[in-house]
Amino acid sequence: MDMDLVIKNGTIVTASDTYKSDIGVKNGKIAGIWKGFEGEKVIDAKGMFVFPGGVDVHTHLDMPFMGTSSSDDFATGTIAAAFGGTTSLVDFAIQQHGDSLSQTLADWKKKAEGKASIDYGFHIAVTDVNDSIIKEMGTMVEEGVTSFKLFLAYKGSLMVDDAAIFRILERSREIGALVMVHAENGHLIDILTKQLLSEGKSAPLYHAEAHPVIAEKEAVERAIALAEAASAPLYIVHTSCDDALKGIKQAREKGLPVYAETCPQYLFLDDEKYKEPNFGGAKYVMSPPIRAKRNQNALWKGIKTGDFQVISTDHCPFFMKGQKDMGKDDWSKIPNGCPGIETRIPLMYSEGVVKGRMSINKFVEICSANPAKLLGLYPMKGTIAPGSDADLVIFDPEKKVTLSYKNLHQNVDYTPYEGMVVKGYPVKVVVNGELKVDDGKFVGKRGTGKFIKRNRFEG
Ligand code: URP
Ligand code: ZN
Ligand code: ZN
Repeated sequence: MDMDLVIKNGTIVTASDTYKSDIGVKNGKIAGIWKGFEGEKVIDAKGMFVFPGGVDVHTHLDMPFMGTSSSDDFATGTIAAAFGGTTSLVDFAIQQHGDSLSQTLADWKKKAEGKASIDYGFHIAVTDVNDSIIKEMGTMVEEGVTSFKLFLAYKGSLMVDDAAIFRILERSREIGALVMVHAENGHLIDILTKQLLSEGKSAPLYHAEAHPVIAEKEAVERAIALAEAASAPLYIVHTSCDDALKGIKQAREKGLPVYAETCPQYLFLDDEKYKEPNFGGAKYVMSPPIRAKRNQNALWKGIKTGDFQVISTDHCPFFMKGQKDMGKDDWSKIPNGCPGIETRIPLMYSEGVVKGRMSINKFVEICSANPAKLLGLYPMKGTIAPGSDADLVIFDPEKKVTLSYKNLHQNVDYTPYEGMVVKGYPVKVVVNGELKVDDGKFVGKRGTGKFIKRNRFEG
């Protein structure tokens, strides 16, 4: 059978194996792995790694938040993702108070349809819990939305109480869904915020003081206790510090089905950044905040021990000029979030694999295979195998790039990693069998990404 595309001479890397072979692609799927395919189009990947496309299960594209909207929409954000080697994502659809979950899903589908250039799914962030919402969760699972997010922070907007958390956990267990939590104690943060502002502490630096480690540790432990009471699995998003990780580790050692992610910003940045002059600290205003440097070693260790299964981005960009500067005189008005959808794969390869912190297979595991498995996308996404989607990254391990927002494609006027040099970079990116990115140019069709109906959580 003639292939639509053949990728020849590359070194294929999955979460379990590294070997040289050719990949045949037909109708957007991997048709086979074998030396000897012929095809209409051929990519010579000699000297390159061929990775399964990155899977980012924590993004906020076109999200209304804190009086503005995240600056990447599904058009710009998915193109940036592709440049950085990410070929599918799961974004958070946020329920507006009073809306049904079907309305929420319809709203987010509308934002993405015809705009996204890579495949996408949605988690629904439930912010307004009542009997009809609990019932409707079952319909959402049938529609392929198999995870629900709860915010334990952002009092007065997104935060839900313990009763709601418990109800959502119980219902999720019944219907085969996974609950994800933003674990910070919103009441504590609210009080600290008011106290700091009343003392005239209005600079970005105080964001970190208002979001102490103890607020995260408490919320992680509370969420775990509620999940244990509900006999439900739990996934903790964007873990930032050692104390939170300790709670996760303890739960896992007890045998509880607790899963967790961390993000590059917590591995590579520390709280000294909040002291950047001229309001520069605002670039790093995110929740949880970046922490004291000593936490970074603990987080790397958490990856090694498997207590973190996933590296995601929490990509939620806002322009410094025109968005972050809404909080020029009051840090609590700075929209929370930072960009990262394009830099996750290069950073984790360069700082993880090249620096000897993890094997190349572990890198694929945490950036592609595990997120796909935990969020019901595997083996369609997250691996290179016959029948899987042909989402492939041809990666040059020798290519050095100095990261700068000027060369990146994220729709935002900074990157937190400005000036950092990475070794290893995606050079060609194939999405559903189509070459989308070729040596720094977007060459594919735009807006062809499809909504993915995800499978139920299987553990
Ligand atoms: O600061 C952050 N993380 N912004 C995005 C929303 C969230 O909390 O995940
Ligand atoms: Zn969050
Ligand atoms: Zn987030």
